[in-house]
Amino acid sequence: MLENLFSSRVKLDGKSRLVGLFPETHYIDNISFGGGAPEERLFPVAELKEAYQAAVQKEGAHAFQYHDIRGPEYLRQFLLKRAKDLVGIKNVDDSQLMLTAGGQQGIELVAKMLLNKGDAMAVEAPTYVGALAAFDNYEPTYYNVSMQDDGADLEQFEQLLQVHPEIKLFYTVPDFHNPTGITMSIAKRKHLVELANKYDFIILEDTPYRDLRYLGQSLPSVKSFDTEGRVIFLSSFSKILTPAFRIGWLVASPVVVQALTKLKLAEDLEVPYLPSATIEYYLKNNDLDEHIQSLRDLYQGKMEEMTTALNRYLPGVKVSYPEGGFFLWLELDEGIDTTKLLWENSVPKEHLVYVPSENFYANRDCKNGMRINFTGPSYQQIDDGVKRLSRMLLETSKKEFFVKAV
Ligand SMILES: Cc1ncc(COP(=O)(O)O)c(C=O)c1O
Repeated sequence: MLENLFSSRVKLDGKSRLVGLFPETHYIDNISFGGGAPEERLFPVAELKEAYQAAVQKEGAHAFQYHDIRGPEYLRQFLLKRAKDLVGIKNVDDSQLMLTAGGQQGIELVAKMLLNKGDAMAVEAPTYVGALAAFDNYEPTYYNVSMQDDGADLEQFEQLLQVHPEIKLFYTVPDFHNPTGITMSIAKRKHLVELANKYDFIILEDTPYRDLRYLGQSLPSVKSFDTEGRVIFLSSFSKILTPAFRIGWLVASPVVVQALTKLKLAEDLEVPYLPSATIEYYLKNNDLDEHIQSLRDLYQGKMEEMTTALNRYLPGVKVSYPEGGFFLWLELDEGIDTTKLLWENSVPKEHLVYVPSENFYANRDCKNGMRINFTGPSYQQIDDGVKRLSRMLLETSKKEFFVKAV
């Protein structure tokens, strides 16, 4: 048995949380609210192709060589300026910036830097399933902090910290949270930093959706309130340009950047040059914020379409109404198991895919919710998909209020 040689982190009895979240279906009328993918039609394909060609032409054969782990200089300066101007991180300098292979690698490296087996960490409940998959590999002891309408419940968190002062990491998605869509209030952002200072832990602020705000005002990052260098701010080009290049970035204390760079060197030696140089040339010749605005316009329309459909076909169901991002979160009656529903009803009968709530809980102990994505499906699919959802829930729960609606 080869598996006997595997380390405990591979968890022989289980699989990655990222496998089997939802079925791949080939029904011709399939509608997916499952993934978290950007709308393909809006990838700036011609501009990226031009940028790639410019990078190769300028660098020649050297473009295909190994490169520095720091990544291209212009890109670094661009990100530092963005961190100051748009994220509100004052006094940021080059020693605090690091490029990563997507935000996902940033999460994984932070886990590797901080977590020995059994170490205590806290997560929002629910939280991003990919982060749990990365943390799982380091076998932490998880503590859950419930979500409220204005972000994590910090009173509950402080009570937890009093009992478990050994908690060393808190992972949060403060802007348009994956999966609930909730945004953390300014007061909570400040207070979270105070808690980190008081109880001596590090905050990983993961915010790939930050620029995708459709309503309301942009809020200062948690990092902007950081007084002791405890916050790691993490973002990515995946949702605002393309996920295919796998380029993310983080801002953290120099000592943290040094530790993470040491770990990244061992993982993959460098920031892939051609993807990062392509982004660099794209940024030199295009206005990223103009592109982001076109994403915002499209996604806002889709979000409104989905909330309208939910109000029409599923009145009475508890839904989060986010101000941006990719997702809405539905809370159904206790007793409804959305995983079972997905595999037994939604997919085979309605040809509809979503992500069941249990995937977003460290202990998989909440069954009656679901995450639905509105950026991927078309307007028509959004309307049809919510209708199908409503029909299925009517059959399952026999609730009166669905009857009128459909
Ligand atoms: C909250 C969150 N963090 C990180 C990621 C990973 O993104 P990337 O493509 O930058 O690795 C995602 C992707 O969906 C996400 O939703």
